[in-house]
Amino acid sequence: MIKGIIFDLDGVLVSTDEMHYQAWKRLAEELGITGFNREDNRRQRGVSRMASLEIVLEKSDRTYTDEEKIELAERKNEYYLELLEQMDDSAVLENVKAVLAGLKKRGLQLAVGSASKNAPIILQKTELMPLLDEVSCGLDTTRSKPDPEVFLVAANKLKLPAEECLVVEDSAAGIEAAVAGGMKSLGVGPFHQSLGADYEAENLNHVTDWESILMN
Ligand code: BG6
Ligand code: MG
Repeated sequence: MIKGIIFDLDGVLVSTDEMHYQAWKRLAEELGITGFNREDNRRQRGVSRMASLEIVLEKSDRTYTDEEKIELAERKNEYYLELLEQMDDSAVLENVKAVLAGLKKRGLQLAVGSASKNAPIILQKTELMPLLDEVSCGLDTTRSKPDPEVFLVAANKLKLPAEECLVVEDSAAGIEAAVAGGMKSLGVGPFHQSLGADYEAENLNHVTDWESILMN
């Protein structure tokens, strides 16, 4: 039986994809990389900042040292933070707050399990924090999805064994991480049908049968 739910943040609770895309695109253009597109951005879902940078640099005709890569990732994050300044609770996806409140009412423990190091800022700006029990994010981990570390840290914070946790994800790397961590998974978002999750729905608002998901 499921006693805890671990939600990915970007693309599951909040809409940040466009801001990540705009920030990476700005960096790519500065580097003279013109071919960076939304398909590349799709592959950046769920993966760490440094792994996302590697996807941008695939289209570069020069190589960068590790030090330069750190500077580039920091620069992208500055652009992303500029965009986050405008963020408020309108970035929360449809009906998410009501869904979280309903699950809490059922007695479930709720956590975030996100690769993002910006998760605390986002949770604060969107006023989601009061609806959650715990947060595990890029600041708590050294390995990124598809490694299960971020979800195992979340389960540990909730004091629940992995098999009593359900992971909600919008990325293939995240579903792989849930499987590797021994957790059940619910795939949501624009690619929900191709993520290979145990359960799928277009978004959290479209999950009609929580009862059967939680009983398994
Ligand atoms: C994930 C996003 O949630 O966080 C990725 O899906 C992003 O696209 C990753 O690269 C790391 O985010 P941040 O905010 O630490 O750069
Ligand atoms: Mg995501």
